[in-house]
Amino acid sequence: MKLFLKLKMIFNINKRLAPLLLGASVGASSAFSVACASSNAPAAATETPEGVLPAGKGDPFDVPLDGVSKEQVATFDDGDNLFGLPLRDADGLGPLYTRSSCGACHREATRGPGFVQKMSAVGPDGLTPLADQSEKLPFGNTVHPLVTAGAKTPIVPPADDPSIKVSTRVGPPVLGRGYMEAILDSEIERMQDEQSVRDDAIHGRVNHVVYASVRNPDRTFHDHSKGEKLLGRFGLKARVATLDDFTADAMQGDMGITSPLRPEEFPNPDGLLDDLKPGVDVTADSVNLRANYMRLIAIPRRPTAAAVAVALFSQAKCDVCHAPSLHTSADYPLAMLADIDAPVFTDLLLHDMGDALSDGVRDIDGEAGPRDWRTAPLVGLRFNRSFLHDGRAASVRDAIVAHDDPSAESYESAELFLALSKRDQQTLLDFVEAL
Ligand code: HEC
Ligand code: HEC
Repeated sequence: MKLFLKLKMIFNINKRLAPLLLGASVGASSAFSVACASSNAPAAATETPEGVLPAGKGDPFDVPLDGVSKEQVATFDDGDNLFGLPLRDADGLGPLYTRSSCGACHREATRGPGFVQKMSAVGPDGLTPLADQSEKLPFGNTVHPLVTAGAKTPIVPPADDPSIKVSTRVGPPVLGRGYMEAILDSEIERMQDEQSVRDDAIHGRVNHVVYASVRNPDRTFHDHSKGEKLLGRFGLKARVATLDDFTADAMQGDMGITSPLRPEEFPNPDGLLDDLKPGVDVTADSVNLRANYMRLIAIPRRPTAAAVAVALFSQAKCDVCHAPSLHTSADYPLAMLADIDAPVFTDLLLHDMGDALSDGVRDIDGEAGPRDWRTAPLVGLRFNRSFLHDGRAASVRDAIVAHDDPSAESYESAELFLALSKRDQQTLLDFVEAL
């Protein structure tokens, strides 16, 4: 962690200083993109989930959108710092938690290395969730392995109990998530409508979810109230609609940090209602700064795709689910993201991915069932060292092969990929790996 913080500091200092070194204004984000890539700039090593890229080898990522103002760069940097900051007892950590910073599971806004585990009470087949989960799992489906602030009892799976299925969710990248928040609801519904009349197996579904936070005092991005029905788009099963709701949920659920949006600690076996910091732990601004940082992160720059690769992506039906772009709302408060085609490579819909990818979890992800997953956005894939919700695939190729379950909506697509010549497969892989 020490090394990580040091690298992070060097990287942030470079982000702030590079434009000044070039004599450009701080607001010109393209200036520091150039600076990071240029051999004149001091080269910083770049950490990725499972290793450190040698200095000078990484392209700029975890940087703000092109065209942001000076104030937005400052917001981005403040949120970036909070995102990476490990919180302590004095900050209200716990009583139970999984990791102490967002960055522990989304390092430099990329994937992992931290993860969350889910438990599910299942029947004799080891896969079908029982209708009543609370009898076996009175404190919910999420594992909370660490204790502090007087707590003694973590929430962990019982040893050697085959009636509890344990699955893993690796922290996905948060790169480009502002684009995803900006996408019009009508676009997601259009995807669902178009797929519903297809004559193959691909029929994605919108996840209708409920806004679970208390109304945000900052109404810049929306004015939703607790209980409002919305279209889900964030989380591996699209169970949350907005980035502030997700941030407040992550602070409460992963870190035991309460906020005005989520003022209560989650139930725990010791019955503790608070931690070492009395009352609500952080301000709404603290939540919003982290959310605004994620709204402002750019999609890492991509090489121009070869036409033949794009054609293969379509021929193998990858683009039906991994829709290359969806249109954003003209009213989205960040002008750079308003009324554009957001190149997110997802339809933001749930798809039945078959038994092999099932996690046996029900009821905690809106309308998503055990076999349903949101089409993974193909953004920043070149920083991933593992793929799919639980990291079971070591390469993009392995991830595609895992789509090949006869009971999955993606089966035909995976078969089409496998039927391509070795050369065409490689062309398609090169394209996806560079996204
Ligand atoms: C213990 C690991 C862990 C920590 C700590 C953590 N996350 Fe996550 N994060 C995850 C996992 C796992 C998911 C997927 C969760 C799901 O779908 O149930 C996720 C999903 C997300 C998403 C949705 C991304 C997408 O693709 O839709 C956002 C946004 C996010 N986290 C932000 C945060 C923020 C902000 C913090 C800090 C306040 C944070 N996370 C802390 C593990 C973590
Ligand atoms: C029926 C919809 C569907 C089709 C068709 C489809 N995918 Fe996917 N894809 C998904 C879903 C859903 C996931 C997430 C599964 C999970 O995490 O378990 C995913 C995950 C992935 C991942 C892993 C991404 C990550 O961040 O870990 C890659 C890579 C990928 N798909 C590439 C492809 C390619 C290439 C094709 C075409 C050969 C394709 N997919 C076809 C729905 C689809």
